[in-house]
Amino acid sequence: MRMKKLNSYILLISISFITLGCNSTKNSGNNELVDEIDIKVEELIKEMTLDEKIGQMNQYNGFMDFTGPTPQNGFEAVKYENIRKGLVGAMLNVHGVENVRAVQKIAVEETRLGIPLLFGFDVIHGFKTISPIPLAEAASWDLEAIKKSAQIAAEEASAAGINWTFAPMVDISRDARWGRVMEGAGEDPYLGSLIAKARVEGFQGVDLTSEKTLAACAKHFAAYGFAEAGRDYNTADLGTSTLYNTVLPPFKAALESDVKTFMNGFNILNGIPSTGDAFLQRDILKGKWEFDGFVVSDWGSITEMIPHGFAKDGKEAAKLAILAGSDMDMESYLYVTKLAELVKNGEVDEALIDDAVRRILRVKFELGLFDDPYKYCDLERETATIGKQSFHDEVLEIAKKSIVLLKNENNLLPLQKSGQKIAVIGPLAADKTSPLGSWRIGADDETAVSVLEGFKKYNSTNQISYAKGADLILNKPLFTTELEINTSDTSGFGEAIQTAKNADVIVMVLGEHGFQSGEGRSRTNLDLPGVQQQLLEEVYNVNKNVVLVLQNGRPLTINWASENIPSIVVGWHLGTQSGNALAQVLYGDYNPSGKLPMTFPRNVGQLPLYYNYYNTGRPVEPAPNQVFWSHYIDESNDPLYPFGYGLSYTSFEYDQLEVTNKFSENNVVEILITVKNTGNTSGKETAQLYIKDLYSSVVKPVRALKGFQQIELEPGETRTLQFLLTEQELGFYDNSGNWVVEPGTFEVFVGGNSKAILSKQFEI
Ligand code: NOJ
Repeated sequence: MRMKKLNSYILLISISFITLGCNSTKNSGNNELVDEIDIKVEELIKEMTLDEKIGQMNQYNGFMDFTGPTPQNGFEAVKYENIRKGLVGAMLNVHGVENVRAVQKIAVEETRLGIPLLFGFDVIHGFKTISPIPLAEAASWDLEAIKKSAQIAAEEASAAGINWTFAPMVDISRDARWGRVMEGAGEDPYLGSLIAKARVEGFQGVDLTSEKTLAACAKHFAAYGFAEAGRDYNTADLGTSTLYNTVLPPFKAALESDVKTFMNGFNILNGIPSTGDAFLQRDILKGKWEFDGFVVSDWGSITEMIPHGFAKDGKEAAKLAILAGSDMDMESYLYVTKLAELVKNGEVDEALIDDAVRRILRVKFELGLFDDPYKYCDLERETATIGKQSFHDEVLEIAKKSIVLLKNENNLLPLQKSGQKIAVIGPLAADKTSPLGSWRIGADDETAVSVLEGFKKYNSTNQISYAKGADLILNKPLFTTELEINTSDTSGFGEAIQTAKNADVIVMVLGEHGFQSGEGRSRTNLDLPGVQQQLLEEVYNVNKNVVLVLQNGRPLTINWASENIPSIVVGWHLGTQSGNALAQVLYGDYNPSGKLPMTFPRNVGQLPLYYNYYNTGRPVEPAPNQVFWSHYIDESNDPLYPFGYGLSYTSFEYDQLEVTNKFSENNVVEILITVKNTGNTSGKETAQLYIKDLYSSVVKPVRALKGFQQIELEPGETRTLQFLLTEQELGFYDNSGNWVVEPGTFEVFVGGNSKAILSKQFEI
């Protein structure tokens, strides 16, 4: 192990090193280079004063955007001065070659040691050219496409001076009320782990020294996605089994993909703020998992340990954070003001500071910043790269793959391109900003292709009319402000109804504004916001041929639409190419293939709702009309649309499930399944395999995804797919964090969503 554990502190806190399954497979590339870097890092550390070391652990927000609460403490004034004194290691929210160069120049030319700065930015789903929100991309189940999307984001952002992205967010979440579900891969740890890997590989590439790649950051370590009641920043309190088997696996997958940084979180977990949690950061991450990159705090999360009631004051917060393994302080200003004193009075061992600085410097060396601190600052490259046509072509492909068809009665879709009168209606139909979604701070407003524009572009001779119907948002939506929703103005309904009456088909574009999801945007009601439901019903009353296109950052409760509207498409916030992607799908140029990465509930009261739940001891009604079973008296237990669900313009049939159990001989169970395209058009299907361990020492979910494959089939074509189940799929983490595989009976289910019924049992 390269990392030198200098500190006896680690030994003290390591009450129980947990075993988290398979060993981490480091992918640090060239070992000689790494050793060379280690030597350089050690040499540099020897040169550094205590203040300079602590400076490396300090990250300031820049002067362009705020992605956290605006600081009120006067530190703005000393930022430049502190960079000059060598008291800053990284910036965030400074972008654009000229801006980055100007700040980097101070660090490189005016400080004693000339150590270059890291420039971090939330490149979550693109920089200027915006891909679908991560939740939408997860609906593609297309790992190559997701990796490509991260690659494009890295190439574009790095051309604007950035070298570190605060992505991927790999938090699993089961609660659609939480606004940040848009930023993750949904509810499932298996899919989430593969997507975490794809995103890290996309951002970081195979060569971190390339000026087209970024250091990635797996966040938020850990359990931030389990915010109680879906309210952002709220407490997370979950069981050990869920922590090991659901929350941690995507982080482990990111680590095994050699992610360079982790970010901790705002939440407490079992009473300890993650930022001050030594068990998470020292025992697990830097201990058992041998992570040798660095951990950055979240925005102000060190100082937030005071209101949490964990630290008495700023000094104690700084101490608890460094002891717990937070290497860099983002916007708390506490390391730079308190750590030196803590070291001098013996409360913090300087070896801990050295360890943090070593980690930070190593990433800077690995990026190649010491060879050329301005490597991301090439004005010509910036001009040639930002918004390149090839980026638009790629994000269009990814956007099409992310669309999910929920319902298509009487094959209303796809629409004809000629001979029809199509009415495009709704507050989001012509919107060119909302489809960019949340977390797109590098992009410009009004740069998305609207649905109306897309429809006109791919149209042949249809007559296309448009009516907005109503406003959704009344103020100017900004990343930092609360939105004012229109809950009463229906004055545009008349025009919309008239437009609907005159049309053959209506495409209604409704849903959430891009800034109704994302950080700080939790909701208690997941219905169509504002007057949209009323608009939908009134339009439907005059013309039943309605295609509902949702634009959403999370699952919505659309029961009425699901019962009444013939065709429903989940169009998420698909980014810059949104309208083109939707038009291609609705016109049938592209056959939809997305599958939901998150359950759509019937009712907010069901939340958290997810497919891989545990059975109760009373799962079913014991006899007709008896109440003593696990249910609601006013709603079904079932979701409206389950995880993994999504239709196509064709249909698929699953048959001939075969299980060949060779586990006792060579640790493998082979599953064969035949999939047939039973419709009239070619299409792509994502075949999903789930298992249930019928009984075990720690109770297992009713089913858990353990494999999937995407296949393209021509009409009538049949393909047999093979899945292999090994210890990796059949084992689990026990409540001490040990990976175990227990003998017993398993049931395997294969099909097109998590409700797949074709099943067989086997024993190992
Ligand atoms: C707060 C968010 O929680 C985090 O994900 C983000 O990276 C930082 N702000 C920086 O913008």
